[in-house]
Amino acid sequence: MFDFSGQVAMITGGAGNLGAAAARAFYRAGARVAVLDRHRETTTEVLGQDVPEGEFCAYVTGNLLDETSVAAMVAEVYNRFGRIDILLNTAGGYRAGTPLHATPNETWDLMMNLNARTVFLMSRAVVPHMIAAGRGKIVNVAARAALQGAAEAGPYVASKMAVIRLTEALAAEVADNGINVNCILPGKMDTPANRAAQPAADFSRWVSPESMANVILFLASDLARDINGAAVPIYGRG
Ligand SMILES: NC(=O)c1ccc[n+]([C@@H]2O[C@H](COP(=O)([O-])OP(=O)(O)OC[C@H]3O[C@@H](n4cnc5c(N)ncnc54)[C@H](OP(=O)(O)O)[C@@H]3O)[C@@H](O)[C@H]2O)c1
Repeated sequence: MFDFSGQVAMITGGAGNLGAAAARAFYRAGARVAVLDRHRETTTEVLGQDVPEGEFCAYVTGNLLDETSVAAMVAEVYNRFGRIDILLNTAGGYRAGTPLHATPNETWDLMMNLNARTVFLMSRAVVPHMIAAGRGKIVNVAARAALQGAAEAGPYVASKMAVIRLTEALAAEVADNGINVNCILPGKMDTPANRAAQPAADFSRWVSPESMANVILFLASDLARDINGAAVPIYGRG
């Protein structure tokens, strides 16, 4: 359906549920893929044993919360492939379950850092390469939950709303550089963790990581060249 031949897609959280599905989809669509995550043993499994590291695949490990590590990861990908066409920021996480007045600083810091700071650091490191190339696509992952505050999830919803606003701000800055910046708003994704947390739910109403990846590939394609600064809902039937 899509053809990313000759392009390089760099994916943070690439060993996670959504990141791995997107990495496989980009690879199948002809892209050279850089999978970024923090544990080498899970990262190197993403594209399977038939795809060794090399011309079409790079497995890059580091800490996305650390500015120096982010710079090193971006440099490694750029040095390997000589270009970065697509940045997909999937790294993120969820903590909830305490009212605000009982929420420790650590939860606030983790949510803001893991969900928002990672997008900030990675975009800041990659955008100069895209501006120099005169083209690029960035897709961030916010959440449906960001659109409405919910009890006992304050830091999470605030951090994902930050992703939406960062997306809009960056999109406005680089629109004239041939760069599109958009985010998706996943509803409930069909993951092992969500199934374990809600065993009685109808999983067919949730969205598979593979289906989310299809929307991401569309946003990263030239078919979506006129979409910029959008927050695209992907709710399935949830
Ligand atoms: N699941 C849902 O229903 C849902 C709903 C709305 C939005 N989302 C968002 O969708 C995105 C993807 O979700 P997912 O289920 O695919 O998440 P996931 O499976 O937890 O994947 C995230 C990946 O990022 C890695 N990571 C975390 N911190 C890192 C760091 N400091 N440096 C490098 N890598 C790091 C994780 O490693 P570890 O496994 O070692 O931590 C993991 O491999 C997230 O942004 C999430 O908030 C998910």
